[in-house]
Amino acid sequence: MSEGLDDVVAARTVLSEVDGQAGRLVIRGWTLDQLVGRTRFEEVVRLLFDGFFEDLPEDLTAALGAARAEVFSAVGAIDDRLLDLEPVEAMRALTARLPDGDDLATALRLLAAPAVFTPAILRLQAGDSPVAPDPSLGHSADILRMLHARPAAAGQAEALDAYLVTVCDHGLNASTFAARVVASTRAGLTSAVLAGISALKGPLHGGAPGPVIEMLDAIGKPANARPWIEAALARGDRLMGFGHRIYRVRDPRADALKGAVRRLADQSSSLPGRIAFAEAVEAAALAILKAHRPDRPLDVNVEFFTALLLEALAFPPNAFTAVFAMGRTAGWLAHAREQLAGGRLIRPQSVYVGPTPLKAA
Ligand code: ACO
Repeated sequence: MSEGLDDVVAARTVLSEVDGQAGRLVIRGWTLDQLVGRTRFEEVVRLLFDGFFEDLPEDLTAALGAARAEVFSAVGAIDDRLLDLEPVEAMRALTARLPDGDDLATALRLLAAPAVFTPAILRLQAGDSPVAPDPSLGHSADILRMLHARPAAAGQAEALDAYLVTVCDHGLNASTFAARVVASTRAGLTSAVLAGISALKGPLHGGAPGPVIEMLDAIGKPANARPWIEAALARGDRLMGFGHRIYRVRDPRADALKGAVRRLADQSSSLPGRIAFAEAVEAAALAILKAHRPDRPLDVNVEFFTALLLEALAFPPNAFTAVFAMGRTAGWLAHAREQLAGGRLIRPQSVYVGPTPLKAA
């Protein structure tokens, strides 16, 4: 038995490879560095979907734009009870209303769902009206326009593209495994994506970047970093944005996102200071974690600089997980189709350690 399934290989995939010793991520034959900053989200969706869906258009921009317009019709059904939920929970509830299916149209609706529902939910929660999608725009530019009700500023759509590409797929992580388990029962792509969203929202997975902002805000200034972190570890807390199941070195996605947030810094007077502060916290955390756990390499993970980048794009921290889902849905869908194409029903076994039935008298 393997608690946490650390050493279990449960799928063959052509989609991505995570090399935890070298700190390298390969997505369908491309390293992360080759993709980030050079590839739009639509292009990476095409890369992941290639061979898994029939009739895949060469350029997915128009098809994805049409899917955004289609799913926007569900925004009218958002009511006050839905708005009381956290954004990722409200987004998941709206996504659950989409029909199940295994075709490209279903997949495009599922890619569009977090991109359209999240800005609409955030605007309604803030007392503003939702903004309808503009199908002629690129996916990232339209997400930012739907959120802020104005065209994305220079560099912002590119920064969001860099983020969505960075998180689009990552081996057999917890949410992708959940999506593959559901796909293996042939329940359909909507069910598989809902399983993915549900696994993603936990703080040990895609729910970490919001708490990273809380940590930075609680630390407040570089001089507080060391005592704050030491006190947190002494309480037995985990530092959000650090540690990983697979990486024993720095998560390569952290530097991809650090690069993206630095490129945005030219247009903002406050961002360079925020980056410098985050780097000071990161340096203190790494030094303290090394002394705290000399046996266990604990380095920075994707979530630390996710937090900084999404904050710079003015997403509220409670929506960061829903934004993560905008990118990772591409990976879940490709994995679900791959599972359907070749995989068997996923059904592991358990060891019974409960009471033995009493013998009949
Ligand atoms: N801060 C402090 N201690 C840590 C941290 C951390 N961030 N991460 C791991 N540890 C400690 C654990 O407490 C554990 O100590 P123990 O052996 O005394 O119990 C030891 O290191 C090993 O940890 P595991 O839980 O076995 O490691 P696992 O591989 O299960 O955890 C995880 C990986 C969940 C990411 C963990 O590092 C963590 O909780 N990090 C903080 C949350 C976070 O950043 N999540 C985002 C991950 S990236 C992603 O999913 C997109």
